[in-house]
Amino acid sequence: MVTLRGREIVLGVTGSIAAYKAAYLLRELVRLGAEVSVVMTEHAQRFVGPLTFRTLSRRPVLTDLFDPGEAAAVEHVALAERAHLIVVAPATAHTLAKAALGLADDFLTTLLLATRAPLLFVPAMDAGMWRHPTVEGHVAALRARGAVVLEPAEGELASGLIGPGRLPEVSEVVEAILGLLAPKRDLSGERILITAGPTREPVDPVRYLSNRSSGKMGYALAAAALRRGAEVTLVSGPTNLAPPPRARVIPVETTEEMREAVLAHLDAATVVIKAAAVADYRPVRPPARKIPGRQEGLAIPLTPTPDILREVGARKGGRFVVGFAAETEGVAASARAKLEAKGADLMVANDVSRPGVGFESDDNEVILLDRWGGVLQLPRMSKLEVADAIFDRILALRSQTPSGVTP
Ligand code: CTP
Repeated sequence: MVTLRGREIVLGVTGSIAAYKAAYLLRELVRLGAEVSVVMTEHAQRFVGPLTFRTLSRRPVLTDLFDPGEAAAVEHVALAERAHLIVVAPATAHTLAKAALGLADDFLTTLLLATRAPLLFVPAMDAGMWRHPTVEGHVAALRARGAVVLEPAEGELASGLIGPGRLPEVSEVVEAILGLLAPKRDLSGERILITAGPTREPVDPVRYLSNRSSGKMGYALAAAALRRGAEVTLVSGPTNLAPPPRARVIPVETTEEMREAVLAHLDAATVVIKAAAVADYRPVRPPARKIPGRQEGLAIPLTPTPDILREVGARKGGRFVVGFAAETEGVAASARAKLEAKGADLMVANDVSRPGVGFESDDNEVILLDRWGGVLQLPRMSKLEVADAIFDRILALRSQTPSGVTP
């Protein structure tokens, strides 16, 4: 199970509009069991109050090097020694510069100099600043000294411009932290083929049939597998998610395209995980022209799409095959029926009718049913934790048979 229990993390928050997102990051780290001390710069406090961070971390927030009440002048030395990791999120161009040059004029930058813990910077700034040669030089200097500086995400910035500069998603920052603090390489040597997201079936040139899948579960699986040392091929339907760095991503749209991509990469895979929510039906012959609107009782003939999981199950060989079952009633029984019908080794079943879990949400609550009769009910947790639990289960099931997967 993924955990940061017993880990001391310092979260440095600096003066960017993205400072409020650091609260979400803090909440996630606390949820994973980390002990987090928050240090805020003066400018960060203009964007968010320390009370938010004090409440979430259940610890005093460190703001002032010279506050006699906080004994901060010595605290920065104690914290520098105690910390297993210092994360600066968001990191402004100014803080990156100070860190690169070794300036120490506030609590955070003094701490950065005093510590020997690994450093993780999560930049957020305007695209023009991020691309400025001075900033690039500071980032290169920090990286050359062993610090990890994440790339900012692309998108709309507070200035209204579009480009690189957004704080990466919290899940991506958590992944980087786990990679630094909890490196478990128990999937090295595995080649994992993962499908994610929805598929889209064209109705006409402008419309399609699809479903509410966000792709978050499949992307979390890809990120966890990469962190644990696997090679990952991610066959992804359309999503709004940034693919995990180092995954081989094959973008697809229709079920047929997904099928072809999966079959083309099947031979090389040791584990196949079908997390995609495949469209079950497609319009029979989508017309080349747009269907005119306002037709009373318009009927569009549909035909089933190929069942990719069943095809993979039939050609399984020594691979370990995992399917997902999104159910609204009789969850375990329906999932077991699908496991048997499709020839999977493990089925991840969830009740999508419940609020707060499943489609579009960051959390999931699943039951793992395996071909050997096992049923494991997991508590509600983040999709990243579910991903780790699925890989733990795959490894456990494979190790219980001497020759790997039983026929
Ligand atoms: N799946 C697939 N190809 C399809 C449909 C589903 O590979 N055409 C896979 C999904 O990726 C998932 C599993 O099969 O891993 C179960 O999908 P689900 O839609 O729940 O099952 P269905 O067999 O379509 O059953 P239902 O009638 O409940 O929709």
